[in-house]
Amino acid sequence: MNTYHVLVLHGPNLNMLGMREPGHYGASTLADINTMLLELGDQLHCELTTFQSNHEGELIDRIQQCALEEPAADGIIINPGAYTHTSIAIRDALLAVRRPVIEVHLSNIHKRESFRHRSLLADIAIGVVAGFGAQSYALALRGMAHHLKQQTGA
Ligand code: DQA
Repeated sequence: MNTYHVLVLHGPNLNMLGMREPGHYGASTLADINTMLLELGDQLHCELTTFQSNHEGELIDRIQQCALEEPAADGIIINPGAYTHTSIAIRDALLAVRRPVIEVHLSNIHKRESFRHRSLLADIAIGVVAGFGAQSYALALRGMAHHLKQQTGA
């Protein structure tokens, strides 16, 4: 059974989960979410690296690094936070590293303010999961594991 390496990126303000607008984002902290993902990753034969930053450039650096480091990431799961709606630079970085990407949101961005309806990443992602709270990440990881397994014929 192959092991897949998946980079999980959390964008700005997601370090505030647990205290930040719980009506939209739930009660789980980012540490809770990462722990849940690492456990699920074990079941799915995925080794995860998690990274959070409030800075666009740091997220871009981490995306670039994931293609160069050893082991390189096979796929990227990203909740870009508000950069979803603004960042051509994150889009370009994701395109540059040529890895499958899944976009994640805790909240259903399509049910919220109109400025959240547009994503600059969704059309380059293999899939988007939104609206299931912390479970959005778990669903994304299941989707990524399935995709990588299919891709490698394992
Ligand atoms: C979010 C949705 C974004 O619009 C918002 O800016 C966030 C979180 C989500 O997970 O629902 O920071 O990405």
